Amino acid sequence: MKSEDYGQGQAFQVEKRTVFSTEWLPVCAEGQIGAAGDFFSATIGGWGVVAVRDGQGTVRVLRNACRHQNMPVVGVPAGKCETFRCRFHGWTYDLAGRFVTAPAPVAPADTGTPEVNLISFAIARAAGLVFFNLAGKAGAPDLDVRLPAYGGTVATEIACNWKVLVEHLLLEHPAGSQDFIWLWPLLTLRRAGTLAILEQVVPHTFLRSRLLTHLFGGAAEEHRVSGELIKQACERLQADRIAGRMASSDNNLVADFHRRLAAVYAEAAAAT
Ligand code: FES
Repeated sequence: MKSEDYGQGQAFQVEKRTVFSTEWLPVCAEGQIGAAGDFFSATIGGWGVVAVRDGQGTVRVLRNACRHQNMPVVGVPAGKCETFRCRFHGWTYDLAGRFVTAPAPVAPADTGTPEVNLISFAIARAAGLVFFNLAGKAGAPDLDVRLPAYGGTVATEIACNWKVLVEHLLLEHPAGSQDFIWLWPLLTLRRAGTLAILEQVVPHTFLRSRLLTHLFGGAAEEHRVSGELIKQACERLQADRIAGRMASSDNNLVADFHRRLAAVYAEAAAAT
């Protein structure tokens, strides 16, 4: 890995077109959208998405881009609603993303075509989380685990590249531990006694990431301090990467992470 892979937008654009366009990516805990009309929006790997539970309990992940002029339909991180009304010109969609109505001056000529519905992604549910896949990949994330009851989520905003955060999580919990699982690219699961802690990395931009710490078997708020410690560590590590000090690949999981990224970059370079 090179310093610029952590500090320049070009690497992030490659990752957006490759890793984040093909892999199963976690959006949120199912418990964060537990009731009909609950939604959760985020920019994940550069893609704006909304996870929502409809009146029948079906969970969907929709692209957060209005079919009128491509503006974000949802402008808040989470909430509850009966329809999504775009604040720009009023196109309105139901919770399945289907076009419902629009003011006459901006209404589409053909309201029956799928082109007016929000784009809906393939979804999967595993380990109490909702995942989406832009490429419509078959199957589901390889994460067949049983967890205790969902206890909440803590969000921590971190001024670092997403790879710094992943490396830190992998280095903190060495390979071979029975109590630790890494799901490429963005999720770790750690068990501590009766607790299960899922750390979800959300790459917003190349220098901004969010850590969602999902607690199962305990209360999330008790883990706010550990989120803050991870933030401080990662912001220091980000400065290290920019200065050319890379993560040690002695750790098998970090070495595997770097191997996968190198393969992705090589593939992208060969395609251009
Ligand atoms: S961009 Fe959404 S209604 Fe115009």
